[in-house]
Amino acid sequence: MTTAKYLIGASVAALMLACAPDKPASITEKPDLNKSAVEAITDPTKGIGAVKKVTLNTPLEQDRIKRGLAIYEMKCLSCHKLDETRIVGPGWKNITKNRKPEWIMNMITNVDVMLDQDPEAQKLLELCLMRMPNQNVSIGDARDILEFMRQNDGEK
Ligand code: HEC
Repeated sequence: MTTAKYLIGASVAALMLACAPDKPASITEKPDLNKSAVEAITDPTKGIGAVKKVTLNTPLEQDRIKRGLAIYEMKCLSCHKLDETRIVGPGWKNITKNRKPEWIMNMITNVDVMLDQDPEAQKLLELCLMRMPNQNVSIGDARDILEFMRQNDGEK
């Protein structure tokens, strides 16, 4: 009886040893980052999203400013002031001097991914302690808002 138990125990141990080297080595591998994100991250100052290059014109485009102001009043004003004061989100004063236009537009149109993956957006999240909701802003509307921000920062 005692011998039989010992034998079973020994063979189980032998089986376990035999199995050990076959364990898949890939178990600790990290999943690949999604490709489009990797592409955008090659220039981290531009953020992550569909907006890769923005052309800025001087003088400012007045039609865009008007539309940008209207969208601001309808969708953004409750959380963003035009001076530097933070209410729910940061005030917009000097945003166009501190950030690339592409980053700003990606933040507006792709906010969920930006908050999950962009280091600068994540710093803001830590500061504000609330996620900016997706405002369903089109790229064209985001461009109008950007023009309005440029005017707010004193460009002519
Ligand atoms: C319910 C509140 C809320 C609304 C509405 C809102 N935001 Fe935000 N926004 C935030 C918060 C909070 C942050 C900081 C990041 C975070 O914590 O999610 C932010 C950050 C930003 C930033 C980056 C600011 C910086 O200093 O770099 C931009 C740009 C921005 N929002 C644009 C907009 C635009 C454009 C609209 C309107 C279409 C809008 N937001 C509407 C809350 C809001």
